[in-house]
Amino acid sequence: MSDLLRALAGESVERTPVWFMRQAGRSLPEYRELRVGTRMLDACLTPDLAAEITLQPVRRHGVDAAVFFSDIVIPLRLAGVEVEIEPGRGPVFANPVRTADDVARITAIDPADLDGTAIAEAVRIVTAELGETPLIGFAGAPFTLAAYLIEGGPSKEHLRARAMMHADPESWDRLAGWLSRISRRFLEIQRDAGASVVQLFDSWAGSLSPADYRAHIAQHSHAALDGIGLPSIHFGVGTGPFLGDMRLDGGASAVGVDWRMPLDEAIAVLGPDVAVQGNIDPALLQAPWPVLEAHVRDVIARGRGAKGHILNLGHGVPPETDPDQLTRIVRLAHGEL
Ligand code: CP3
Repeated sequence: MSDLLRALAGESVERTPVWFMRQAGRSLPEYRELRVGTRMLDACLTPDLAAEITLQPVRRHGVDAAVFFSDIVIPLRLAGVEVEIEPGRGPVFANPVRTADDVARITAIDPADLDGTAIAEAVRIVTAELGETPLIGFAGAPFTLAAYLIEGGPSKEHLRARAMMHADPESWDRLAGWLSRISRRFLEIQRDAGASVVQLFDSWAGSLSPADYRAHIAQHSHAALDGIGLPSIHFGVGTGPFLGDMRLDGGASAVGVDWRMPLDEAIAVLGPDVAVQGNIDPALLQAPWPVLEAHVRDVIARGRGAKGHILNLGHGVPPETDPDQLTRIVRLAHGEL
């Protein structure tokens, strides 16, 4: 079994497994070259292209896993929702979902009808080439998707989504439940085509209070992963105040930790039954290698007390990152530096 799967299962590893969120993307010149002239979501839905972009960072860095090149809004596009990704900005929806009527209209779409042919084809190309290296499939968590969908685009505090939970809790539950089934379907397509791990991204969960997370979010995220039949990683940013809840009552095999909380402190909160992933500060990728090296060694040392530790960043690779810094981190984790 690969070190990544062993770490997720709490078994001993030969070398600390490492991969990077957003490892497939703008930090790589070979990615920027391939993307010229193709819109982001069109690239995701072109199987050869998506497969090649997924494989680029594995070849270059020797990471312990590939993460499928796609986006959290792809299953919505496949469900017929009008969405684009604006460069430098993020997902933008033509018709924001704000009223009870909007919610009723969008949730009438049956997630089972989503056409996963292009995704399945890309995943099959990738896994055939990867051999023993695992492919991580992923999806957006209901809250992070709702934060974009209700607002209609990126926002700072996700006020409209948090407001709906309280102003119209019934519509909120209907929408979050539907998003959970949409993301679940996306995970199933990736699983059935050969992904061997899944990660649920709740990037914006940190804007929630612990009470709101527990009352309005946790059950929907749990449903997206429950019974998926693969090891799972549950990631959020700024979730320190409710980190224990990110375990989803045992529904997650590992919890992703951002850079704000020292990993040993996160492990003390999370307990012995769950693995951890993280938590190199993305800002330190800009520092001279000796500074970054000391930080990475510290993260690895603090991770030793966990049931299992997957080395990663506390959030995604910033586009301006020198890719050689990432390769050095992999070599360090593998005991080659
Ligand atoms: O390497 C990987 O991690 C796999 C691919 C991946 C992408 N998006 C590719 C992408 C993954 C896992 C995602 C998930 C995603 N998408 C999240 C959760 C992860 C996180 O970073 O918090 C979120 C919030 C989104 C929504 C989204 N899509 C944003 C905010 C952006 C950036 C917009 C910009 O231009 O700054 C995107 C676009 C996107 N998704 C890019 C990539 C490589 C950049 C597109 C480009 O190259 O122009």
